[in-house]
Parts: sequence; structure tokens; C-alpha cells
Amino acid sequence: MKSVRAEFRAAATRPGEIPAASGPEIALAGRSNVGKSSLINRLTGRRGLARTSRTPGCTRGLLFYEIEGGRFTLVDLPGYGWAQRSKQERAGWKALVEYYVENRRALAGVLVLIDVRRGPQDEERMLAEYLASAGIAFGWILTKCDKLSRARLAARVRELTPAFEGAPALPTSSEKGLGIDSVWRWIEAAIARSKEVGRDAG
Ligand code: GTP
Ligand code: MG
Repeated sequence: MKSVRAEFRAAATRPGEIPAASGPEIALAGRSNVGKSSLINRLTGRRGLARTSRTPGCTRGLLFYEIEGGRFTLVDLPGYGWAQRSKQERAGWKALVEYYVENRRALAGVLVLIDVRRGPQDEERMLAEYLASAGIAFGWILTKCDKLSRARLAARVRELTPAFEGAPALPTSSEKGLGIDSVWRWIEAAIARSKEVGRDAG
């Protein structure tokens, strides 16, 4: 497994706690329990870096992980669709994520994670629409692909493809390491593009 230098840098539960950007950022968004923190651990090869749990709502607030001494930062966004919390708390997370995505100049790209078995729902479609309209690069990540047999996975990917309207959709398994190289390539391309357009700081 690839192993890269990665360090937890900050957590933000309010806009005022968001740290100044030290370089381009790649955020991971998606429903609670979809596998955002697991993907961060798999990408970095550091199992205990981001806390993961079977219980939804594990990650609270925005968590910033500096990769390779700040070459770029992975941002674990709090998951939505998490029914156990109060309405008020959920509204707070939503506002925080929206504030971050709408105001972060350093945001080089957003990975939108979807459980391959579930497919995109309204929340994911709305997020993708917003990112497209804001000119922020985004890519779909299909998670937990190890839960399907190889044949069912291929059929499922074909079935889902029209829903992504030409945007890349990468099948992955953080458990088995499937598709992780492709995610790395997507990240590197998004960082390179953000540098070209000067969207990599602030
Ligand atoms: P929140 O922090 O609540 O938003 O969730 P999250 O999106 O960070 O999910 P997390 O990474 O904590 O994973 C949730 C559960 O799914 C854990 O029990 C993981 O072990 C499991 N999981 C994550 N990725 C995979 C995968 O690729 N395959 C399988 N089989 N399980 C996975
Ligand atoms: Mg998490």
C-alpha cells in the first residue's frame, strides 16, 4: 500500500475555526457512513489517521489533513443525512459545509462519495450542480465496491453511468484498495489545474 506523509492539522466546527489555507485543498463530501474517512486513510496508507466508525456521524466538523508537508490538504467534511442528531445540529453542519465550499479559494476539487449500492440521491445531485455552477472541479467516487461481486459491480457501474452526465465516476474500495490509484490521479490532476488558474491559495 502506498504510504504518504500525512498529519492532522486542524478541526473546525464553526467558520471562524477554519484555518488559513497552506496550499490547494481536496475535500471529501458525502452522506454519513459512505466511507470518507476510510478513503483518507486508504489514500495515505495510514489506517488510524482519520477516525472511522460503523456508527454514522463519526466525523464532526471539518478536519484538515496536511499531505506531504503541506503540498496539499485533504479535508474530511462532516457527513449529511445523519438522523440521530438534532435538526439544529444538522442545519449547523450544512451551513458550515456550504460556507467552506462557497468561500474557499484554495479548494482545488471535491470528491463526492456515493455508496455504489445506493447511487446518487437528491443531496448528491444538488451538490454536484452547485459545484459545476461554481466552477469547482468534482469527481464521483463509488465506495464499498467490494460489497458487490465483480460481475454485479460491472453491471452496476454501467447502470449508474448515465446519472453522472459525463463526469468521471471512480469505483473504489477502501477495504480492498480498489481504484485508489485512479483517485490519486484525479487528485493530482485537480491540483495541477488549480495551479494553472491560480486557485491554489487563500
Ligand atoms: P461520517 O464520518 O459519519 O460522515 O462517515 P464516513 O463517510 O467518514 O464513513 P467511515 O469512513 O467512517 O466508514 C463508515 C463505515 O463503512 C465503517 O464501518 C467502514 O469500515 C465502512 N467502510 C468504509 N469504506 C469501506 C469499503 O470500501 N468497503 C467496506 N466493505 N466497508 C467500508
Ligand atoms: Mg468520517
